Amino acid sequence: MGKGFFISKAVGIAAIIVGAGALATIIALSVVYSQEKAKNNDNVLPTDGGTTSKPPVTTTAPSNEPWDKYRLPKSLVPDHYNVTLWPRLKQNLTTGLFIFTGQSTVEFVCAEETDLILIHSNKLNYTKRENNHLASLTSLGGVKAPSIKSSWLQQVTQYLVLQLDGKLMKDHRYHLHTDFTGELADDLGGFYRSEYMEDGVKKVVATTQMQPTDARKAFPCFDEPAMKAIFHITLIHDLGTVALSNGEEKGYNVNIEGHDVQKTVFQPTEKMSTYLLAFIVSDFSFINNTIDGVLIRIFARTPAIAAGQGDYALNKTGPILKFFEKYYNSSYPLPKSDQIALPDFNAGAMENWGLITYRETALLYDETFSSNSNKQRIATIIAHELAHMWFGNLVTLRWWNDLWLNEGFASYVEYLGAHEAEPEWNVKDLIVLSDVHRVFAVDALASSHPLSSKEEDIQKPAQISELFDAISYSKGASVLRMLSDFLTEKVFTMGLRTYLAEFAFGNAGYTDLWSHLQMAVDATGTDIPETVSNIMNTWVLQMGFPVVTVNTSTGIISQKHFLLDPDSEVTTPSIYNYEWIVPIKWMKTETIQHPKWLKNESVTIDEMKVSGSDWVLANINVVGYYRVNYDQGNWERLLGVLSTNHVAIPVINRAQLVDDAFNLARAKIISTVLALRTTKYLNKEREYMPWESAVGNLDFFYLMFDRSEVYGPMQDYLRNQVTPLFTHYKSLTDNWKNVPVGHMDQYNQVNAISLACRTGLRECQNLTNQWFNQWMETKLNPIHPNLRSTVYCNAIAAGGAKEWEFAWSQFKNASIAIEADKLRYALACTKQPWLLNRYLEYTLDPNMIRKQDATSTIVYIANNVIGQSLAWDFVRARWSYIFTQYGGGSFSFSNLVNGVTERFSTEYELQQLKQFKEDNAEVGFGSGTLAVDQSIERTIANIKWIAENKQNVLDWFKCISNSWDWEY
Ligand code: BES
Ligand code: ZN
Repeated sequence: MGKGFFISKAVGIAAIIVGAGALATIIALSVVYSQEKAKNNDNVLPTDGGTTSKPPVTTTAPSNEPWDKYRLPKSLVPDHYNVTLWPRLKQNLTTGLFIFTGQSTVEFVCAEETDLILIHSNKLNYTKRENNHLASLTSLGGVKAPSIKSSWLQQVTQYLVLQLDGKLMKDHRYHLHTDFTGELADDLGGFYRSEYMEDGVKKVVATTQMQPTDARKAFPCFDEPAMKAIFHITLIHDLGTVALSNGEEKGYNVNIEGHDVQKTVFQPTEKMSTYLLAFIVSDFSFINNTIDGVLIRIFARTPAIAAGQGDYALNKTGPILKFFEKYYNSSYPLPKSDQIALPDFNAGAMENWGLITYRETALLYDETFSSNSNKQRIATIIAHELAHMWFGNLVTLRWWNDLWLNEGFASYVEYLGAHEAEPEWNVKDLIVLSDVHRVFAVDALASSHPLSSKEEDIQKPAQISELFDAISYSKGASVLRMLSDFLTEKVFTMGLRTYLAEFAFGNAGYTDLWSHLQMAVDATGTDIPETVSNIMNTWVLQMGFPVVTVNTSTGIISQKHFLLDPDSEVTTPSIYNYEWIVPIKWMKTETIQHPKWLKNESVTIDEMKVSGSDWVLANINVVGYYRVNYDQGNWERLLGVLSTNHVAIPVINRAQLVDDAFNLARAKIISTVLALRTTKYLNKEREYMPWESAVGNLDFFYLMFDRSEVYGPMQDYLRNQVTPLFTHYKSLTDNWKNVPVGHMDQYNQVNAISLACRTGLRECQNLTNQWFNQWMETKLNPIHPNLRSTVYCNAIAAGGAKEWEFAWSQFKNASIAIEADKLRYALACTKQPWLLNRYLEYTLDPNMIRKQDATSTIVYIANNVIGQSLAWDFVRARWSYIFTQYGGGSFSFSNLVNGVTERFSTEYELQQLKQFKEDNAEVGFGSGTLAVDQSIERTIANIKWIAENKQNVLDWFKCISNSWDWEY
């Protein structure tokens, strides 16, 4: 690295200016905020004091002025910034606000002559500088800068606009100076405030979440990912607090306005995008170690660090970092890697370069409270964010339309990193359940969308936020895993490494990755039927995926766009006509065969023609992003293998057979009875993945039928199926005293208990009630962390107000967020409508439920059959409040909309949903926009599915239960 420690003069002076201006700006800010609250749809906030002429702006039809466009012009290119920020962690008693003050200088180069400066700025209030303008401009290199003619804030497009009286000259450099103030609100975006209690004292943390478009809420900046620059950051903060940012810190005691404060100056960053910046002031503690010269620190609330809750993360970070250095063949580019757990955080974690932020549950581990699933999430989320340090941070996609590659890539390699940290877990297999199967459900809808979006279609912040969806993450991960598999990991990493080397500290597009992979293919002579680009374009440029049908009596293999509702209309044409270039790994009766490709609608592969008792299984380990159907004969033979010798089929494919069959049945390609028959062998199955797949699919049956007469017979059948599994774990754990050794076994123990209790197995219900009662009576919790969520949920469902209140008080007093989360989930399981309604009210009171947890809590309540309609009514009635107060952030709105409508399966519910869409058209749905259409489509499909299947399903369950004749 060898960079000197450099503090600019401007930054040094800045602190003093910032301090002096603070008092005045507090008052100014409170005025501005009350104005802002009162304002209607006015999209321009003139702040030129009336001394300059205001450009014509219409509030209705957007004009074609550059400041009405969401994308920055290409005329100015930032080089570096000097930014000083001073967050106040104490409330101003007059205004009631928490604020931060700031001062910034950005040096930029003029790439094309212009008399206009546009720089992003959102919710910042500027202290006027020379001639009453919001900024001042100086030029470097002797020439005089033009004067500012007019300056204002363009609110809709989030710009600070400066019109100049002359042109900036090509290739000349300029400095733009600003002084500003912002609110340190508890809104989880930009520079924001997080609060928590420690020893009865309320503590405040100032922290940031910039991605995708909130750096502009912290300081004026060219807030686009390709506008990379170097950042010189300084934070002013109280003595005794710690300031962190992307670079290494150095603190000085200074006196500003008679206050002794600390000034922490950070080493300049590497050349990087604004969305990866982070600034944090807290009084957190940390633990650290060093690995090959890189300092690794874990920061969290002092009691959490003291209790050792950061230890697991610290122990795993080094090895995962080393793994990625090897995988990318590139050493970690920064001198330090900080990771911090925050009490309030919207997403799970954020890959700020050198200072990764997490919600507490995603980083802190405690053996007495955390389950194996919590532990796995920590290992994978660390791996995910560390993977971004190169893929995303070192090389950044040019624009947000390629977000899928960034998030999809990290979501794929997180499994590789986690595997390195915990090789015993077999965690790599789980991508099939958590990503492939998960995204199949949305990508099978006609309202799905391709991975790749057009650059011009992604402009507004809400459009950018909408891209953080299951398609980008899980389909992205799935198709990259498929690509890595058919190229082989050796060739895949070879291309990846040269891609990173070529674009380091710069920007790229997904086609650049394809080019590098192609170079690796050519260099190694890898045998693929078309170019990487031709193959991958079929997966990236068109939505959906195929169902591949293997006809083992003719050897004909064909493909067709898989639609959950075959009657739904696909209105978007595809240049590939909804055909894909499909790699087919397959086996014939226990022997893996040479892989094949399906390039057109159909092909005859003679080896796939089988006779006698032979069977064919395609898509081994589900490395391909497609479903598989067979001729009836082969299905029968596969069912036969499942019932006689299920281990002949690889465990991932047992999970696949269940998932494919249930979904093919929903799409009316096979009968629902055939799908149900794939669950018959489960009484002999002990492995997690097939069970989890079955439980996931049966969940759909619960959603559709738990209010109908199918429910009873279905319960009887499933109780019978799960009882052997329950008994198995009972003996394996010596009557529930021990914990199963294997990671997957631990997961399946949870399935055994959940499903046994859910289907009314008395022994299970007694067990969970007894554990919970023991806890209430003795105040000592006897329940293993792995089992807590399900045990709490069952006990609260079986109990009344007493159980609920006990759990609520445990929730409020929990010393670790991971325990609080288990209780927060379980509190939604009560069957008492009044408790559920009161709980719903709590979700919108940040003193009861943190803002970060509001939408997921509502979804938990909606998952409860009793809570469903209550949650829907609640969300409908308060949509506009939820929408405005709970931000446009990441996944929460799409999850909320999907969550509260999941059970919808009647005409009446469909009408309500359509009405909801209409009623709120004006307010909007932000990042949940697509979810509304998906929900409508799902509801229509559900209505049809019930009409067509209810009787069959009822008959099948009844027949099975009555006769126990397994050969229905
Ligand atoms: N870059 C995201 C965080 C993010 C998400 C920022 C949405 C803004 C909007 C980060 O890398 C991420 O993907 N986090 C995931 C975790 C991961 C393991 C899937 C998350 O927050 O859930
Ligand atoms: Zn990510």
